[in-house]
Amino acid sequence: MPDPILSIKDLTVDFRTEDGVVHAVNHVTYDVFPGETLGIVGESGSGKSVSQLAVLGLIPQPPGRITSGEAYFNGKNLLTMGKKDLRRIRGGEVAMVFQDPMTSLNPVFKIGDQIAEAIHAHNDVSNKAARSRTIELLKLVGVPTPERRYDQYPHEFSGGMRQRAMIAMAIANEPKLLIADEPTTALDVTIQAQILEVLKKARDETGAATILITHDLGLVAEMADRVVVMYAGKVMELTDVRTLFEAPRHPYTVGLMDSLPRMTVDEEWLRPIPGQPPSLISPPPGCPFHPRCFLSNGRERCREEEPPLRPLGPDGHVSACHFAEELEGQQSKQVETPVEAAGSKG
Ligand SMILES: Nc1ncnc2c1ncn2[C@@H]1O[C@H](COP(=O)(O)OP(=O)(O)OP(=O)(O)O)[C@@H](O)[C@H]1O
Ligand code: SF4
Ligand SMILES: [Mg+2]
Repeated sequence: MPDPILSIKDLTVDFRTEDGVVHAVNHVTYDVFPGETLGIVGESGSGKSVSQLAVLGLIPQPPGRITSGEAYFNGKNLLTMGKKDLRRIRGGEVAMVFQDPMTSLNPVFKIGDQIAEAIHAHNDVSNKAARSRTIELLKLVGVPTPERRYDQYPHEFSGGMRQRAMIAMAIANEPKLLIADEPTTALDVTIQAQILEVLKKARDETGAATILITHDLGLVAEMADRVVVMYAGKVMELTDVRTLFEAPRHPYTVGLMDSLPRMTVDEEWLRPIPGQPPSLISPPPGCPFHPRCFLSNGRERCREEEPPLRPLGPDGHVSACHFAEELEGQQSKQVETPVEAAGSKG
């Protein structure tokens, strides 16, 4: 195994609110290896975004607070690094693509100038060189007539075109790590597929390790090599994508898969996980998933003892369920569809 490009260890993030302390991310640990795509999945509020934003120094403090952890990027701890050094890494070696490009693009500047500015911020190049590199990048992400589009403003771009421009900006400085947070969620379905292709192309062009944060298990099956499943700010399961779909070993993962709309049968079939995600201010004792778990059967251990994340085999598969082994042979109803997609990943 090569050294990880990003190594998050025991990361804990709280928010102090009027209602109490929100435990958004709890003792999260995982590695991202060079060139791989790591999917992070989980329901809304499970801490997917906050865990990444915290690592990049982008959570508001206060109300946020990082109460434990380290995050080594290329061997340097991002959490203890000075603001200036961190700013140099962001947009350079580490780049981000968010759900809504309108929040990251400045409405009063031309698209091309914003990308060129990102290039200038990290490289000593002439205006002319930055402009021609920008046009090259716009072409790469499939923005038509990039010379003309360079001088347009964000509102003159459609949602899909704005996301392409954001991806161009993200890869402008050839990042080693690309963090994409729900990159296609705000777009309509046909555009989603196009942006996914652009993202793959950007990833392949730069060779960047990619963290893909998403609700969409289909997207994970298409793009990810390994997957982190988060619930209530904790890692529930981590394994390679094929194992996740073929042999999930956490009831929450099984629930997520069963709640996917199933397209292979005549009827669309959908079985949401019963109940609601827990309060992050006063989470349930024991296993955080126990009030919703089909496997627990009210067992005392689930209600009282928090399951640690533990290895299930020699291949790096880990699960935070006391009874993970009981899922052997009990496959999700849903596995065929995503596995086929994962298998065609090449
Ligand atoms: N500034 C803040 N103040 C208070 N609580 C916050 C703040 N930012 C995030 N949180 C809380 O942290 C928890 C984790 O949020 P996060 O955005 O990481 O979830 P997520 O998994 O990315 O969800 P989604 O899929 O909806 O994007 C949530 O309960 C959220 O309300
Ligand atoms: S520990 Fe118990 S409640 Fe938690 S996921 Fe496993 S079976 Fe379900
Ligand atoms: Mg999020």
